[in-house]
Amino acid sequence: MAGILDGHVAAVTGGGSGIGQGICQAYAREGARVIILDVNQEGSQETLDLIAVGGGTATALMLDVRDRAACRAVAAEIARTAPVSILVNNAGINRRNPITGDVDAVARDWDDILSINLDGMFNVTHAFLEQLRQTRGRIVNIGSIQSFVHVAWPNSAAYTTSKHGVLGFTRALAAELGKDGVRVNAIGPGLIETRINAEARARNPDMVAMVMRHTPLGRAGQPSDIAGPAVFLASDLSSYVTGSIVMADGGFRTV
Ligand SMILES: NC(=O)c1ccc[n+]([C@@H]2O[C@H](COP(=O)([O-])OP(=O)(O)OC[C@H]3O[C@@H](n4cnc5c(N)ncnc54)[C@H](O)[C@@H]3O)[C@@H](O)[C@H]2O)c1
Repeated sequence: MAGILDGHVAAVTGGGSGIGQGICQAYAREGARVIILDVNQEGSQETLDLIAVGGGTATALMLDVRDRAACRAVAAEIARTAPVSILVNNAGINRRNPITGDVDAVARDWDDILSINLDGMFNVTHAFLEQLRQTRGRIVNIGSIQSFVHVAWPNSAAYTTSKHGVLGFTRALAAELGKDGVRVNAIGPGLIETRINAEARARNPDMVAMVMRHTPLGRAGQPSDIAGPAVFLASDLSSYVTGSIVMADGGFRTV
């Protein structure tokens, strides 16, 4: 059966876990050749195995998105086979500490979060830019409800800043690359049950309860809840959509 992403080559950062893994599986199911870019070797292998079971095609390359030179080298290596036509900037981390806390820890959180969530997104996008222009490709950036609001407790100023930046980058690139036929959009997940928040969910039931009070759908999300919007934004179904953020958050900002 024909897939909606047949003929596409999709690179997904952070494809070795959680939301990225779900997106990789969905893209492979829809016929794309998937390239997992992650620092997590074990997780990447898990994604490869899941895709193989489903009959899809995928490869994995180790990449730290903070390493600009490595991003360029990986992009050049991939271009030798076939250019990437879908890029998902999904790799990300979070730490929740008050800005008024230990000075060194706060600065370390800032540097680590911004270097992965924001600089990393730039490094990878810039490295693949020519391939995306050549293919009139699609970029899907993973934002958050924190692209708009600060989830007040527990604290996460650096993460909120990074995710506001994801939305700004998405809009700026959409404006600049439209003339090349490259579409650039974001997804804003709500609370999705993955490793990034496993510890926070276990330690802070109040945080989960606070999020649920803002979630009319009444449940936390799963990676598969993000895969649908990611397929939509990568496919021709969204041919006139650019510079948008699709919120997949159970309705968080409505209540
Ligand atoms: N889970 C949520 O509730 C939620 C909500 C909103 C946004 N997000 C965003 O979704 C994205 C994916 O998060 P997740 O929930 O799947 O978390 P996760 O921890 O399960 O997966 C993150 C992946 O990113 C990879 N990664 C981390 N640093 C990297 C680096 N320097 N280079 C390459 N890969 C790196 C990790 O190895 C991991 O495989 C993140 O950008 C996160 O901010 C998550």
